Amino acid sequence: MDDPKLLKGKIVAQHVNQRVEKMVQLLNEHGVQPKLSVVLVGDDPASKVYVKRKGKSCEKLGIKSETIQLPDTTTEGELLDIIEQLNKDTDNHGILVQLPLPKQIREEVIIRSVNPLKDVDCFHPQNVGLLVTGNPYVLPCTPAGILEILKYYEIETEGKHAVIIGRSNIVGKPLANLLVQKQKMANATVSVIHSRTKDLAEYTRQADILIAAIGKAEFVHSDMIKDGTVVIDVGINRVDADNEKGYRLVGDVNFDSVFSKVARITPVPGGVGPMTIAMLMQNTITAASFQEGITIEKTAN
Ligand code: GUN
Repeated sequence: MDDPKLLKGKIVAQHVNQRVEKMVQLLNEHGVQPKLSVVLVGDDPASKVYVKRKGKSCEKLGIKSETIQLPDTTTEGELLDIIEQLNKDTDNHGILVQLPLPKQIREEVIIRSVNPLKDVDCFHPQNVGLLVTGNPYVLPCTPAGILEILKYYEIETEGKHAVIIGRSNIVGKPLANLLVQKQKMANATVSVIHSRTKDLAEYTRQADILIAAIGKAEFVHSDMIKDGTVVIDVGINRVDADNEKGYRLVGDVNFDSVFSKVARITPVPGGVGPMTIAMLMQNTITAASFQEGITIEKTAN
């Protein structure tokens, strides 16, 4: 579908990728080959797909990448040893440990073990602190991708009521912290609502910008929004379908139900999804430049 209401993350991601390619060239001119290492523990099918896409994107943009695949019986100690090696490896600039991790491994312990300078996810408490206080090292990938979409399509956030459904550490909480910052492309009034919020639709109906990141297929319906809402759908859910794969992907928003009411909306797929990887590529370049002591202009486009 090619409708002017659509916020096409796929196109914005291409725009970011062009910027990243130029930054890779600049690093190469300084004799630096940026490198990202991705660690996947276990064989969750969705995680496998994401990790493969990350590797492909690196290859396309001239970023060296390595995927370390470990069995789901891996112990916390074994994973810590691998991260320690990656922390020490000066050829490696970025470390991404794909979440979720198997039950025997504590996520918070792993996140804290990554060298903050190589933390391309912006999950380490040091980087989260820098983000919250308005002086970030890198931005968390999915929230940064959402801001990039809003910027590309010139959607004003200042003074707007942004309502975020979902309080995860990966999307909801960091996005709230970004949108509330006292700066251009932020300055929003932010509400974070979640599974325990009473009368949830009371809040969603007040949203100028509604971000759905709750992980429930087609959760948001037309009676939950007002006319003219900008809807950002972060969800990627598999639902049974009568096709070759046996499933199709849907967001956290019931697209057909809300479409006539919204001002703009991100589709699923092709909306926020491609942005997460594009921002990861950008973060890898930021991390490589910082570690190598090279200043490159992020807006080199
Ligand atoms: N699992 C789902 N999203 C993410 C992400 O952005 N980073 C990592 N490391 N794991 C994830």
